[in-house]
Amino acid sequence: MKLGIIGAGSLGTALGQRYAESGHSIMFGGGASAQDAAVRLRVRVGSNAETAAFGDVVILAVPFCAIGPALADAGSLRGRVLWSCVNALRPDFTGLAIGFDNSGAEEVARRAPGARVVAAVPPFAHAIAKGPLSYDRDLAPTVFVCGDDSAAKRIIEDLVLELGAHPVDVGSLTAARLVEPAMMLAVSIAYAGVPRDVGLRLLERSPILAA
Ligand SMILES: NC(=O)c1ccc[n+]([C@@H]2O[C@H](COP(=O)([O-])OP(=O)(O)OC[C@H]3O[C@@H](n4cnc5c(N)ncnc54)[C@H](OP(=O)(O)O)[C@@H]3O)[C@@H](O)[C@H]2O)c1
Repeated sequence: MKLGIIGAGSLGTALGQRYAESGHSIMFGGGASAQDAAVRLRVRVGSNAETAAFGDVVILAVPFCAIGPALADAGSLRGRVLWSCVNALRPDFTGLAIGFDNSGAEEVARRAPGARVVAAVPPFAHAIAKGPLSYDRDLAPTVFVCGDDSAAKRIIEDLVLELGAHPVDVGSLTAARLVEPAMMLAVSIAYAGVPRDVGLRLLERSPILAA
């Protein structure tokens, strides 16, 4: 699959590295950091618009404060699958910039009219970069998948599975209002004091066991 990754920071490069290793074709979009990442990983690089046109899936991995310019540069994404990895964090990571009646995911969708937006905030970039994800008791971390296009969600769930994570469809894009605070919780646990390598996991009891 062709993956166009807009934003080649910690997360974008970790995803690019893993997906390049598993045989996907990668293009990074952005400025100097995209150039550097492309050279290091020996993949393509282009403008945001070229990257958006390249990808069967366009992955948005920029800070929340950069979604406006990044998507404006990307041009029309109408009909395209757009995986938003963005959490609506404040620039200093002390909390969420918006929430409860809005989400980063919905702000992305507003700036990409007609795109098939799927919001799925991945686990921490450093963990993704190390290889298949597993935490205590060999559990894979859950990635909560939100969106209004079921077929697009299945595509992103497959990509999440490839990382070794555990995708869970939590419904429409507005469910991101609940997911983004949960992922902020993971950030605050991870960086309160000594940095910790944490992920969130949804546990389910089967109906037979629960009876
Ligand atoms: N890091 C994680 O563990 C993690 C995990 C889950 C979700 N996320 C989410 O992923 C997003 C990125 O996080 P990050 O940690 O990777 O951030 P980061 O390391 O600060 O990287 C951000 C990247 O976005 C690029 N960028 C900024 N404006 C851009 C634009 N207009 N067009 C193209 N590229 C642009 C930057 O390029 P320049 O440096 O060249 O300006 C940089 O490469 C955030 O929304 C975050 O909430 C991150």
